This record gives sequence, structure tokens and C-alpha cells, in this order.
Amino acid sequence: MSLHPQPVEGTVKGDLARYPAPAEPVVRLRALRSVSLRSTAVDECVDFYSEAWGLRPTERDRDAAWLRGTGAEHHILQLVGADESGLDKIAFAVATPREIDEAAHRLRLLTIPLITEPGPLDQVGGGYGLRFLDPEGRLIELSCDTYSVTPDDPDGLPAVPRKLAHVVLNTVDIDAACAFYTAVLGMRISDWSEHQMAFLRCNADHHVIAFNQAEWSSINHVAYEMPSIDHFMRGIGRLRHNGVTPLWGPGRHGPGNNTFGYFADPAGLVCEYTSEVEQVEEDAWLCRVWRRVPELSDLWGTAGPPSKDVRRHMAGVPDLGHLSRAGNTGVPS
Ligand SMILES: [Fe+2]
Repeated sequence: MSLHPQPVEGTVKGDLARYPAPAEPVVRLRALRSVSLRSTAVDECVDFYSEAWGLRPTERDRDAAWLRGTGAEHHILQLVGADESGLDKIAFAVATPREIDEAAHRLRLLTIPLITEPGPLDQVGGGYGLRFLDPEGRLIELSCDTYSVTPDDPDGLPAVPRKLAHVVLNTVDIDAACAFYTAVLGMRISDWSEHQMAFLRCNADHHVIAFNQAEWSSINHVAYEMPSIDHFMRGIGRLRHNGVTPLWGPGRHGPGNNTFGYFADPAGLVCEYTSEVEQVEEDAWLCRVWRRVPELSDLWGTAGPPSKDVRRHMAGVPDLGHLSRAGNTGVPS
């Protein structure tokens, strides 16, 4: 992969320069709450994520589904029927409606357009929030007061995910993406993998978002956190019994020190089991730059280099952004 590829025709180029640099972030993000994926195979994906992957359906609509982990979030994954598979939305948790309102005020000062004005969210899972677009047109939601469910035993026997761990995004401009997510959204860069990947945190987890420099904007993969390495391995075992074998892994990455096992869902999007994500002590952490050598991206030496097939899946379909899709007019709702 080239470090500085040219964007493909039509790709939205990240452009932080058109925003004045904020004196401080517009909001304090507490956690990665959920991800919404556009899927060409919603029915098959619901079966996959509920029967093989270990999530539990919470709501089902004609062409959409919501699934939860064992944590308190009403859902961590939303699947929406679409002509092409890809990212629909990323939602971050914010503490209070007042912080949402303040974020809206500060986003307006930065001339960053709101797609949804702050207020009660008319969606499954409820909440109070707002939505805006990042520099590459991704739909980002900030929310609080969403519905919660009674958590299952977080360390229970079933080998099922408890929460989202991270979303990795392919970007045409990794520096602009990092500048926006740090300066505007207050994330911190935990580590770099040369100038190819950047790992960003908003809480003690080593990363909740990572950017991968690529030829086009798209979603690279979504990772789900298992409570322990035992749950992680038993989860991989259950997938094998369901006829699903890893695209890459199991192994352990250097940056984040987390275990990894990558799979493709029926719509072709990459999903990952992970565990033991490194915990960051905010005031003591030093950002590092990791060399991209096999012994650091695969600490155990069990996974080997990523295959062409997994790279193809992770490259995804070029995403021209939320406003490029039919029916998304950008008119605040
Ligand atoms: Fe990952």
C-alpha cells in the first residue's frame, strides 16, 4: 500500500483546512457506542451475527436490524439494507444533553454542518443527540440518554462479545482525518503504525477508532470485544463449527497488544473478535511509532502476513459519503 496514494475519481478528499482550528474540542467523547452498517444481505447477516457471531437481536424492521452484546447498550450493531455494503453511521456516547447542545454550538462556530440538530433522536434505541459529517462525509452521531438493557454476566460462560472494541476506517488523508478527530472531537493518538495507520482513543481503551491510509474512503473492519482470551478462542471455535474460518488470525497485534481474528460477514464486510485491548493511563502514555514488520503486527507468529483476500475485503467499496446516497439531502432533520 502506498503511503500517499492519489484519491480515486469522485472520492471526497479530507479537508480540515476549511475549518478554523478550534481552541479546544467541541465535545468530550465517553465511548464508542454503536456502528450502523449498510448491508447487501441483511437477512443473512442477521443470521450470521446472531447465530454464529454471538450478538442478540433486539429489534427487527422490514429492512433493518439491531443487535446487542452482553453490555448495557441497547444495540452495538445496526444493519441497514443497501445496494452496496459499507459504513452508515458511527455513534459515540456523550454524558449529558447539555454537552450535546454545547457541541452543536461549537460545531456551528467551526462551520461544520449539522445533519441532525440536537434533540430527541427519532430512532430505535432513542436518546438525545445530534449528527454531523466528518471531513470524508461519514455520518457521526453524538448521543446520550439512550435506552439501556440489563447487562448479562460480563464474564459469563458464553463466548459472545460484550461491546464494540473499535472501528477501522480507510482514509484518503490520514493526517487530515487525525487532525479532525483530535482537534474537533478530542481524541488522542495512542500509536502509529509507521505513516500507514493511526490508533485513536477517547477513553482508557487503546483505540476505538483507527485510520488506515488507503486509495479510497471506506470501512476497513469492525471489532467486537470478548471478555477474555478464553472467550476469544472459544468464539473462534464456535465460528469454525458454523463453517466460518478466519480470514486472518488468530494472532496478537503489537499496537494495542490486542488479540485478533478477522472474518467476513455474508455481505463481505470484515468483522473481528478481539480481547485484552491495552488500557491507557492517560497521563503516563507515550505515543509510539511502530515499524510495520511481521513480528510486530503478529506478535505470536501464528497468523502470518495478511492474505490478498483479507486485504481485498478490508479495502471495501469506495464510499463517497453520507450525502452521496439517495435520499440523504443534508437538510437538517
Ligand atoms: Fe482491529
